[in-house]
Amino acid sequence: MKIQNEFSKNAKAYNNLKIIQKKVAEELICKISKEKPGSILDIGCGSGGILRSVHWPLKKFVGIDFAEGMIDLHPKEQNIELFVKDFNDPSCFKNLDTYTFDRIISASALQWADDLDHTFQYIAALNTPVTFAIFTSGTFKTLLETASIPPLLRSAQEVTELSKKYFKAEYEILTYTLEFPSVRDMFRYMKKSGVGGARNILGYKEMKNLMKNYPLNYLEYEILLIHEERIQ
Ligand SMILES: C[S@@+](CC[C@H](N)C(=O)[O-])C[C@H]1O[C@@H](n2cnc3c(N)ncnc32)[C@H](O)[C@@H]1O
Repeated sequence: MKIQNEFSKNAKAYNNLKIIQKKVAEELICKISKEKPGSILDIGCGSGGILRSVHWPLKKFVGIDFAEGMIDLHPKEQNIELFVKDFNDPSCFKNLDTYTFDRIISASALQWADDLDHTFQYIAALNTPVTFAIFTSGTFKTLLETASIPPLLRSAQEVTELSKKYFKAEYEILTYTLEFPSVRDMFRYMKKSGVGGARNILGYKEMKNLMKNYPLNYLEYEILLIHEERIQ
């Protein structure tokens, strides 16, 4: 299944399950709540996690996401423009340079960039301060180690190094744990939460083994927060 279809299919379930992403969106909004940018570009806007967390009036909000099912659930207003676009596709950024934004935001999405270097490069060309929250390799660390799977995501160090090529930013690592009543509940959540996405790489037998041997009653998450101050 194509990854955007996976996100679309799970869009409704995901809406109720996005506990960690909600925390991440709130942290990100905290970083910019003093500045209160009036116009925002949200890359990988999903069903509107960022927009719902903004508590100041907005002149303009542009959201892009490649999953139509997510865009369908996003709040719609006169000052909101939403586009079904893939940030892995350079043409995604073409029309965006006709807009002026106070800030570019991306929460819990850029870990899916095929070539993060390129995606950063295209975003940096828009010449706007950025705030990103990107899941990194500490996410599901014990789980992946238990299943002998190498990290699925880039390390915080790797993302920081790439980011330093394009942005003058501050870096902060956020870690969260999410507890579950049972291992079965944990795996069900993972499948639908959007972080697992289409990267379900374990067969039935391996999954059963993992569920038997996973030593924790919680999942681990690691997120790199990248924040550029606005130049006065
Ligand atoms: C975990 S959700 C986060 C949504 C929202 N930013 C939030 O914080 O609530 C990740 C989103 O990134 C989108 N996404 C993943 N890869 C993408 C790509 N290559 N281009 C555009 N959107 C993408 C998914 O469709 C999904 O809506």
